[in-house]
Amino acid sequence: MTLTSLADGTILSPFSRLRQLLDGTPPGHERPIDLTLGEPRETMPSFVAAKITEAEALFAKYPPIRGSDELRGAIADWIGRRYGLVGAIDPAREILPCNGSREGLFYAAFPAVGRKQHVAARPAILMCNPFYQAYLGGALAAGAEPVFLNATAATGHLPDLDALEADPALLARTAALYLCSPANPQGAVADAAYIARALALARTHDFILLLDECYSEIYGGAPPVGGLEVAAKTPERFRNLVVFNSLSKRSNLPGLRSGFAAGDGPFLDTLFEVRNLVGPQMPGPTQHASAAVWAEEQHVTLNRRAYAAKYDVADAVLGTRFDYRRPTGGFFLWLDMSVIGDCEHAALTLWKRFGVKVIPGAYLAQAGRDGTNPGAEYVRIALVHDSATIREALERFVHVSA
Ligand SMILES: Cc1ncc(COP(=O)(O)O)c(C=O)c1O
Repeated sequence: MTLTSLADGTILSPFSRLRQLLDGTPPGHERPIDLTLGEPRETMPSFVAAKITEAEALFAKYPPIRGSDELRGAIADWIGRRYGLVGAIDPAREILPCNGSREGLFYAAFPAVGRKQHVAARPAILMCNPFYQAYLGGALAAGAEPVFLNATAATGHLPDLDALEADPALLARTAALYLCSPANPQGAVADAAYIARALALARTHDFILLLDECYSEIYGGAPPVGGLEVAAKTPERFRNLVVFNSLSKRSNLPGLRSGFAAGDGPFLDTLFEVRNLVGPQMPGPTQHASAAVWAEEQHVTLNRRAYAAKYDVADAVLGTRFDYRRPTGGFFLWLDMSVIGDCEHAALTLWKRFGVKVIPGAYLAQAGRDGTNPGAEYVRIALVHDSATIREALERFVHVSA
């Protein structure tokens, strides 16, 4: 499949492709369980509705696209506490609220390509593979060539930066590199050395590192290191780096549409200009409520505990089947289904025989530079249901054989 544009019909979301795959196939269980969507279902903070009401008069105003001082201040405070960066980030120039991280990740491709206009060759946008669909959407919409950097078990589920460094021709036309840590779907976490190396490459070859950290608060052991934390220790501070985060996973508020981009100030100025033309503003009451949510950590701790309990279930039921290992972060299982066949066959089998709906791994990735799709033998499972439902779903198919 050659990807040339957003509109050529070859880009279907993983969910649309799954619908086509299962088309009309009845589930093999009277109570089907859908494990496809990464939509959090844990409790959202109880005070959100009251905060929205408190600021309801703001619905009568066009909201500031740069975000309110209150919201940017609350995000800066959160970054300060979470990453040991108190007072180290300028909320006026180095933080840009977005309506969820998705639109920020998408729009960031435009200024990234704009910065590379002096290069004669077609700009490339590199992305971890598997990847979140907005990265590909952004690359194609901005006219860049998407380049997929396979992240497999052999590379620690993160792109191989040695291999990338060995390709200076590609790096010379690279406009951006999208990385995700903790990674969706594998749950791998980039350590400080990995991020520092990716950032050094970005600076040497003058591209922008777009680091998607929206699962940063869902982890089992130590909190994942953040890009800003690594960059703050360098003389260039946040130059060539923008991180993205949101309240969707941290606070179980995917419907609030509240996130942010933070880092390289001049880059964010351009991103602001792009969003000011075509991007959505975050409604004023949403900004007010979001500020309160970033300031509260207790619900985040409880949320982490809830996911840990679900992973306990996965540990107990799966053991080491399907090459399962408890991931460092995020809330997915990335299971190697080669015992029964390729990922589409596996997804169809789990649906037809057990009424369990999962996403074929290949739908979350593309063929990488070596021609292989790193998801070809995997399926992704989102651990968003309660523990009992997850146990039942996993127990239904754990002993599946070809
Ligand atoms: C890796 C990744 N990045 C970004 C997003 C976007 O999340 P939101 O726009 O809700 O912040 C998601 C949502 O599922 C995701 O999985």
